[in-house]
Parts: sequence; C-alpha cells; structure tokens
Amino acid sequence: MFTKNSIIGVIGSGAMGSGIAQVAATASHKVVLFDNNQSALSKAESNLKISLQKLVEKGKITAEQQGFILANISFVNALTDLSECSLIIEAIVENLQVKRSVFTELEKLVSPACILASNTSSLSITSIASACSKPDRVIGLHFFNPATIMPLVEIIPGVATTQTIVSACKTLIDSWGKVTVITKDTPGFIVNRVARPFYSEALRIYEEGIASMETIDWAMKDIAGFKMGPFELMDLIGHDVNYVVTETVWTQFYFDPKFKPALSQKRLLEAGFLGRKSGRGFYDYSPDAKLKEPLKDVEIGKTVVKRILFMLINEAADTLYLKVATRDDIDLAMVKGVNYPKGLLKWADELGVNLIVKELTALKDFYEEDRYRISPLLKQHFIMKKTFY
Ligand SMILES: NC(=O)c1ccc[n+]([C@@H]2O[C@H](COP(=O)([O-])OP(=O)(O)OC[C@H]3O[C@@H](n4cnc5c(N)ncnc54)[C@H](O)[C@@H]3O)[C@@H](O)[C@H]2O)c1
Repeated sequence: MFTKNSIIGVIGSGAMGSGIAQVAATASHKVVLFDNNQSALSKAESNLKISLQKLVEKGKITAEQQGFILANISFVNALTDLSECSLIIEAIVENLQVKRSVFTELEKLVSPACILASNTSSLSITSIASACSKPDRVIGLHFFNPATIMPLVEIIPGVATTQTIVSACKTLIDSWGKVTVITKDTPGFIVNRVARPFYSEALRIYEEGIASMETIDWAMKDIAGFKMGPFELMDLIGHDVNYVVTETVWTQFYFDPKFKPALSQKRLLEAGFLGRKSGRGFYDYSPDAKLKEPLKDVEIGKTVVKRILFMLINEAADTLYLKVATRDDIDLAMVKGVNYPKGLLKWADELGVNLIVKELTALKDFYEEDRYRISPLLKQHFIMKKTFY
C-alpha cells in the first residue's frame, strides 16, 4: 500500500508532530507538516534545523543527510496542502472535539485511499473515526516522546478499521526502524494503562508516609533497576501531562478505583508546580535548592519495590487477561516505550506468581480496597501453577 514515494502528512508541529515528521523524512519520505499556528510552525522549522545540526556535530548524521532530511519536509499553513498524502498523522491538541472536526475537514480533501491516523495518548480512536464517513481508514499510531529516539509505536485499530490498513501501517512504521505493537482501542492502550501503578502506588506509599519520595526514587532505581524513580519521572513528564493522563484513564474506565488519581499530585498541578519545566514539582529545581538524601534502608526499599512492581505486574496481567494485546507485545511495549528494565510478565515468572499473589492478597486484606484486587489471570496462574512464558 505504501512505497518510499508515499507522501506523509503530519498535522501539528509541536513536540510530537515535528519528531514524527523528522522520523518519516529520515526514512526518505516527502513530508508535509501542517500547523494552524504560524509561529509554532516557524519554531518547529528552526528547532529541527538546530537539532539536525547537533546530530551533525556529534557525528550521528552527515551534512548530506541533514540536507536530505530538511529538503524532504515542507512546512505548510493550509490544510489543503495535505491533499496528495497517502498517510496523515494528526498530532494536535489532546481534545476530542477538535480532533474530530479536523478529521471531518481532512476527509473532504484527501483521496479515498489516504489513511488517517491519530497520535492521541488517551482518546478513543473509534470516537475520532466516527467523525469520518470512511471510519475504516482511521487508525491510532501512538509514538512516544521524543519520537526520534523512543522506538515504540502502538498501533490501534478502531472498531471499524480494516485489517489491510493495520498491516500496511505496521509494515510502513517497521520500515522506519520503529518497534510496533498492536493494541485494542481501550483507555491508555498498553503503556499508559500498564504504567499507571508506577506513579499511583508510589504516590500512595508517599502519602501514607511509608517512605519519602527520595527513598522511593532510590529504591526503584537502585533495587528494581528502573532508569528513573516515579517522582523524578513525574516531574520530568510534567504534572499537567501525567496527572491528566491518569485522570483520563480513570474517567474512561468508569472511575475504576485502581486508576484513581492522587490528591498530592493534583495539588501540585493547582499550585502550578508542574515539574522541571516550571522549576518546581515534587522536587525543587532552583539552583540553590537543597536535595534531601534518601533513607537507604534496604528493607524499606524492598517493601516499596514489591508494592509498585507487583501492582505493575498485576496491571500487565489484567491487560493480557482482557486481550488488549498479546503477552509479547505487552512486555515489548514497556521496555521500548518507557525503558522498563524488563518485560513485566517475564519479571513475574522470574519472581514467581506465588509471591506476587501472596503480597497482593496481603495488601487487599489490609486496605480492603478494590484498588488492590488481583487480576483473574494471576489467580489462574497461581492455582494452576502456570507461568507466562
Ligand atoms: N507530548 C507527549 O509526551 C506525547 C506523547 C505521545 C502522544 N502525545 C499526543 O500527541 C498529540 C500532540 O501532543 P504534543 O505534545 O506534540 O502537543 P504540542 O502542544 O507540543 O503541539 C500541538 C501542536 O498542534 C497545533 N494545533 C493545535 N490545534 C491545531 C489544529 N486544529 N490544526 C492544526 N494544528 C493545531 C498547535 O499549534 C501545536 O503546535 C496529543 O494528542 C498528545 O496526546 C503526546
């Protein structure tokens, strides 16, 4: 369906759209990048030039490649300039009504064969697709930030999307050197659903005073092997983004308590303490800020790791149980999309399902909260002495 001559359209020249445009242009496609805000478009063009120049200086690409990538991208400010595209990836503001109206407009000017994709993190692809008269050609292609570096792309067929379109998109995105996984159109897809306990359980432990945020971050890095601790990562992502994703997933799952957001994070958002980008989040990033030392108590550290890791494994198991994605895709997504040290289901086998079920049962008994309910798949594996692999 696609060839190297296929023109790729990208709508929205912000963080994600410009990254996706660069990826497609590097893979030899002509790319048309549209934004309805001229200053955002100009900024995207100058940022791209700067980042490509840095790559040349670091020896990662040649000056010739830099010229080739730049020549492949045209920066446009009229939606009609996208009319020749074979695939258009939308990466605009995360607002369902705005996205739906852009898709309705797009359909009027592209060819019937053009595939329309959304990079949404949290909205329903089916709902976006239903704004089109041909919803079968609409799909989710969820890149991770920064799109030029993170290998993962989640491919999300909506209810009406045809298998031919899923296969064509998978072949194309694989050819761009990305790692693709297929996921059902459910809130948070794979990564933004399975990763929720990394933040929410850490926040719960912190709110209860079981460990400080410094200690939780230390334990998750030094004991569990994650690249960043939950509080450092929330501060890096920004609470305006991270809190909103949590709240959206919770709302879309009809307020399932296991996805409930934390008040301590909401207060930061209300205060405008958005994280690194605003100079203060959970941590203070001002030059004279004094960092507190973690309490490097291995027993406390292990308690922290067990709670967070076992809740992550529980969610990965539930995602598999509900057939959102395959075992391999769930594990691959967490490693390639958010740099987890290993796949959670593989990790479950190494630790033993017995131990995980025992610990989760203790949490459920103690708190008497539905938040700690155990995935039926973990229970089945426990009873039948099965492993995931
Ligand atoms: N930032 C992330 O970490 C991340 C990761 C994965 C997916 N996403 C998703 O990607 C999308 C874009 O996110 P972002 O972080 O790049 O946003 P951003 O704010 O950096 O960029 C959005 C761009 O879209 C433009 N825009 C807004 N409405 C438009 C319209 N109607 N027509 C044309 N252009 C329009 C804006 O001018 C802006 O330049 C969102 O759906 C988001 O959920 C974001």
